[in-house]
Amino acid sequence: MELTGKATAISRREFFKQGSSAAAATAGLAALGAPAILRGQNLNSRINFGVIGTGSRGCYMTRLIAGGAVGQITDVCDIYPPHLAEGAKDSKNGKVRSHEQWQKLIEQKDIDAVLVSPPLFLHVPCSIAALEAGKHVFSEKSMGLTVKQLNEMTACVEGHPDKVYMVGYQSRLKNSFAEVKSLVQSGAFGKITQFYVHYDRNITWRKEIEDPKWERVLNWRMYREYCGGILTELLTHQIDMVLDIIGTRPVKASCEGKIMVYNDGRENHDSIMGYLELEDGVLGVCSGHLSNARWGSCFAIHGTHGTIELMDRAYRIFWEKETRHLQTVGVKHKFTQIKLGQSLNVSDAPITEPDKLVEAGDSTEDGSTKALEHFYACVRDGAKPVMDAKSARKTSIAALTLYHSTLNGGRQFTVEEIEAMG
Ligand SMILES: NC(=O)c1ccc[n+]([C@@H]2O[C@H](COP(=O)([O-])OP(=O)(O)OC[C@H]3O[C@@H](n4cnc5c(N)ncnc54)[C@H](O)[C@@H]3O)[C@@H](O)[C@H]2O)c1
Repeated sequence: MELTGKATAISRREFFKQGSSAAAATAGLAALGAPAILRGQNLNSRINFGVIGTGSRGCYMTRLIAGGAVGQITDVCDIYPPHLAEGAKDSKNGKVRSHEQWQKLIEQKDIDAVLVSPPLFLHVPCSIAALEAGKHVFSEKSMGLTVKQLNEMTACVEGHPDKVYMVGYQSRLKNSFAEVKSLVQSGAFGKITQFYVHYDRNITWRKEIEDPKWERVLNWRMYREYCGGILTELLTHQIDMVLDIIGTRPVKASCEGKIMVYNDGRENHDSIMGYLELEDGVLGVCSGHLSNARWGSCFAIHGTHGTIELMDRAYRIFWEKETRHLQTVGVKHKFTQIKLGQSLNVSDAPITEPDKLVEAGDSTEDGSTKALEHFYACVRDGAKPVMDAKSARKTSIAALTLYHSTLNGGRQFTVEEIEAMG
């Protein structure tokens, strides 16, 4: 949700730049039209955040919160002392409480919300404990590592309708994504037939650890006990966006996983490629690699009348020119009537030039900042977040279906089989 709708006197960027002074916070909240007494139970005028897992992501979010006006960090938690110290420093709060056990953080009565940012296998236990203790929860993606966890999480969220539970798929809040979603859902691209999601990096994921006791704690992305590798850590973002746009359920998947480069004892693959089928027969190619970053991260949705590809803040549209024949098989579309080579009318579609690259959203747009704003607005208004439990569960089910296939030599799994594991 854009704060600018209510905050016309103060831009979003200015709002977040104002820092953590109480005066700035009050000005920011007034501009937002927030009531003097906010709706959330025990909610302070700014959200008191406890952060579990102050590694790379937890510290990034801690710095965003500490430098903005939605809240303050009162508590940090990490089992690795150097990261705990870093989180405490980044909180910019001289009185911040530090914990080595996440249960202790959740016990703190004056925490309004918990930001859950440890490795994936802990997302659900921490989130459930926090909701049950009366806190709002901002959980990093993905939702959970097993179907059992997903089911427990969903049940817990349903049992606490007065609390906000949001999963950190921040890309869904970006303007570029909103434009792509609206274009696809308007039917501009005709009948959707296929999609492509990929997330490629050239990164080992291995951190050099001096004391072996921290190997699995800090190199958790490599081990199956803690996460599903590329599928739950990277590709999940792209799968999440495509499922949100197309709107249908995943039904089956097949995926190969290999270790192509990093033969260092890791269990999770450094290279995966497969397909995911949705309930209306739409097929998607899903791939991810840790050894070549050429294609970066992107998704493409193809239909009978065109294709749209989203790369972060820019999207590219390709219109199909040869579409009149589709009438003969009963595919009706407003563009089917055009003559070959004839350009489309501007009033029919906002973007008419083939191969056009559209920059969407301002260059300062940061999904994580928007996610914090959205979380704040949901807590304030008692509203349901866009990245809610239901949609995050659907994304996780798709990723886990692909993941289980990689663990079983690429054999096809139906979603029913995966659901039955719960
Ligand atoms: N939304 C996004 O775009 C985005 C980006 C990066 C990471 N993430 C997610 O954030 C989470 C953390 O990723 P990261 O890159 O910060 O990893 P990281 O390894 O840098 O940090 C994880 C931290 O959790 C700590 N930890 C492990 N077990 C713990 C326990 N029992 N109690 C408390 N702390 C514990 C580790 O010591 C480490 O400091 C992951 O779920 C990841 O998928 C999301």
